Amino acid sequence: MRVNIDINLVPKDERKEKPSDVLQVTFGTIFSDHMFSMIHNGVHWTNARIHPYGSLSLSPAALCLHYGQGIFEGMKAYRRGESVLLFRPDMNFKRLNLSAERMVMPKLDIDFALHSLKELLKIDSDWVPEVPGSSLYIRPTMIGTEPKLGVRPSAEYLYYIILSPVGPYFKEGFAPVKIFVSDKYVRAVKGGTGAAKASGNYAAGLLAGTDASKVGCSQVLWLDALEHRWLEEIGTMNIVVRFDDEVATPPLSGSILPGVTRDSVLTLCTDYGYSVNERQISIDEVIEGIHTGKVLEMFGCGTAAIIAPVGSLWYKNQPNQIANGKTGKLTQQLFDDLIGIQSGEREDPHDWVVPVE
Ligand SMILES: Cc1ncc(COP(=O)(O)O)c(C=O)c1O
Repeated sequence: MRVNIDINLVPKDERKEKPSDVLQVTFGTIFSDHMFSMIHNGVHWTNARIHPYGSLSLSPAALCLHYGQGIFEGMKAYRRGESVLLFRPDMNFKRLNLSAERMVMPKLDIDFALHSLKELLKIDSDWVPEVPGSSLYIRPTMIGTEPKLGVRPSAEYLYYIILSPVGPYFKEGFAPVKIFVSDKYVRAVKGGTGAAKASGNYAAGLLAGTDASKVGCSQVLWLDALEHRWLEEIGTMNIVVRFDDEVATPPLSGSILPGVTRDSVLTLCTDYGYSVNERQISIDEVIEGIHTGKVLEMFGCGTAAIIAPVGSLWYKNQPNQIANGKTGKLTQQLFDDLIGIQSGEREDPHDWVVPVE
């Protein structure tokens, strides 16, 4: 796909100040000077532009506002000296297209999507922070914009990318988090939209999140919708459990997001020599394993937090502490290796890192 990108830059002396300490910034609250956008007119993508970051103008009747046709992605850019590095960006754009297919939205040309992201990153490259533990979070988004009250796919779409310099996702940083197991609400059911990164999935999870915060938990661990028995995933992360030398994670059965970090973790664990299984894991197996000592470690994995050790599971009004609430050996090794690979400091044996050039 050959689309020219129009470029309209913020004058140098009007650019925003960068945060003085990015590690202290609340995740996703500061945005760079520019954004990329293009529209789909019902026939093809057009009007590709890099322009100053700013508010959108949408009809109050825009379909996305009423019927939820909205999808997005989350990825990160890291600084290594003068270079800016992306981590497996093709997987994000492929997943965006899978989400688009599920939500009856137009697909992107993956090469053009990557090209336009790189062009934006070149322009805002000084927004990629260099402090260890920081990165530039990237949010590609697509919404149905046709002004029409009526449940059907939009005839017009907006696609855009915004950039946000970030430090740790959790205020705890890389410290064990308390997770609330929801046996009342569910996130997704097979055949639903759980495998798509659709905005409405997250809105549907907010109510359980309020139950979680009442007992001091920062995220919800979802169980399957039919039996409320099988582990699915955590709010914005896939879940991995280490039972002795087995590393297990729920299979991609259609109701969980196929995480890029999940895939990378499974590859690294195989490299380390663990027995890696994508299999159903029941909450009873986990709770029992926590008490018998078979569950040695448990962690969430996702782009925002990378690896988040789970220190305790709140289930049926009881806390269940895992391995004395300490970060496990494998959890630490994966965090160090992933950060090292993503930031270009460690060897990248699977060619995951893509420089912006
Ligand atoms: C619901 C959900 N599951 C899992 C993940 C982890 O996916 P990834 O590793 O691609 O960030 C995310 C984050 O994108 C998510 O929102």
